[in-house]
Amino acid sequence: GDPRLQAISEAIRVVPHFPKQGIMFQDITTLLLDHKAFKDTVDIFVDRYRDMDISVVAGVEARGFMFGPSIALAIGAKFVPLRKPRKLPGKVISEEYELEYGTDCLEMHVGAVQPGERALVIDDLVATGGTLSAAIKLLERVEAEVVECACVIGLPEVKGQCRLNGKPLYILVEPRQIDHCC
Ligand code: PRP
Ligand code: MG
Repeated sequence: GDPRLQAISEAIRVVPHFPKQGIMFQDITTLLLDHKAFKDTVDIFVDRYRDMDISVVAGVEARGFMFGPSIALAIGAKFVPLRKPRKLPGKVISEEYELEYGTDCLEMHVGAVQPGERALVIDDLVATGGTLSAAIKLLERVEAEVVECACVIGLPEVKGQCRLNGKPLYILVEPRQIDHCC
């Protein structure tokens, strides 16, 4: 395997019982503090996607915003934020998704992505896949082609499955401690 991955994994702090009892929170803010690990993370994605003719990197609020723009700039793509409800001022399309309790929603500006564009979806972490599924649906509703979804961290079962809603899924590392992440 890639020798950079272990340091990336170790740079992610695990915080037990945050935001509530029993959750092993995977804190990527400590990865952002480690210049080499942060740069290696972005570089691995950039090396993978630079020659895949991707014109749009779509980042999921909030933690997808911490990786997506760097990747977009390096591969020559635009960056499109997929935002939580009522944050975008223009006309939007929305997709609801299930949470443990209740639902949440992602929105995208109409006109940000054109039919036929090749899109990469970026987030920090995939657990149930609900968030990424909503992101894929938004892009497919505007007839973009989702080339792949990419995350820094994914649960082992998700990492093993390698696809999400029929789309390829690329994950760098697994959580170092899983009880009930994330
Ligand atoms: C976390 C994480 C992913 C999502 C993964 O975001 O950053 O976006 O959960 O979970 P899933 O695969 O089960 O959908 P969260 O909604 O907690 O908020 P944030 O990124 O705005 O901090
Ligand atoms: Mg998130």
